[in-house]
Amino acid sequence: MNAPGYFISFEGGEGVGKSTQSRLLGDWLADLTGREVLLTFEPGATTLGQELRSAVMHGQDMGPRAEALIYAADRAHHVETVVRPALDRGAVVITDRYVDSSIAYQSGGRDLPPGEVEHLSLWATKGLRTDITILLDLDPEAAAARRAAAEGKGALDRLERAGLEFHTRVRDTFLQRAAADPERYVVIDAAAPVDDIQAQIRVDVVARLGLTPVVTEAAAVTVPDSEDRS
Ligand code: TMP
Repeated sequence: MNAPGYFISFEGGEGVGKSTQSRLLGDWLADLTGREVLLTFEPGATTLGQELRSAVMHGQDMGPRAEALIYAADRAHHVETVVRPALDRGAVVITDRYVDSSIAYQSGGRDLPPGEVEHLSLWATKGLRTDITILLDLDPEAAAARRAAAEGKGALDRLERAGLEFHTRVRDTFLQRAAADPERYVVIDAAAPVDDIQAQIRVDVVARLGLTPVVTEAAAVTVPDSEDRS
């Protein structure tokens, strides 16, 4: 545990509902625990991170090592300036993507050795691991259809352009990681209705983190400065 706070990540492919579920969980945990809840995301939750996000997702093409290093740089700065200070204050930090995304995309997807990608992230974060990771699992074709319906046919970013095989490898890598560490991961079928998914997440989070309800006057949910995730 990252005492005195709690560190939760949401993982999965694009279009699986991570941000909706993070928000619902954050509101609920603020009421339940009376703690500060910080909703954040990678890449791009800091000012530096916004520049890195733009370069890695919308910039010129690059090799897998450059890509992995940019995500790691975003994570290093995010953890140092946003996540760790919040955990030290005793907050519940909920991040939309963390280390598992690097292993799934840069190793599963791009074929870098998984141990090296994980080591890079652990170096970047000085070893900060989540207390619980919620994997929203969805078939990549279903996720792409859902995204297209929600957003229309906007320009795809570099990762979205990578194709179905790439996204199938990403999904498989997430699932393998979850299967290897069932104590830390919760795998949820993201094809289920939003409310059912949220209900399941709440059960798992409370059970695994051993949270105790408190009576509160006003619980606050904060979000990082950068809300722009284009
Ligand atoms: P999103 O914020 O809309 O989910 O987009 C982030 C994209 O970046 C998504 O395609 C996943 C990808 N990504 C990686 O490839 N590696 C990482 O470490 C992270 C955090 C994200």
